[in-house]
Amino acid sequence: MKITVCIGSSCHLKGSRQIVEELQYLIAQNNLQDVVDLGGTFCMGNCQKGVCVTLDDTFFSLTPDTTKEFFEKEVLTRV
Ligand code: FES
Repeated sequence: MKITVCIGSSCHLKGSRQIVEELQYLIAQNNLQDVVDLGGTFCMGNCQKGVCVTLDDTFFSLTPDTTKEFFEKEVLTRV
């Protein structure tokens, strides 16, 4: 499973770095390092919807506050 977080400047301002850190933490806590491939990407051209995150090919708009919910709802239910 691949999670890609936009680290372009607009998404960065909206907290993409915190989201990456939160995801890293949640992945480690659930021992999913071998299952989840977490990466970053430059601007996805969708800045108004940031922070832009894709899970495989599905688009999500996250904030640092909704990251845990996203992880529980979308990631843990797929592994
Ligand atoms: S900076 Fe994230 S979509 Fe543009």
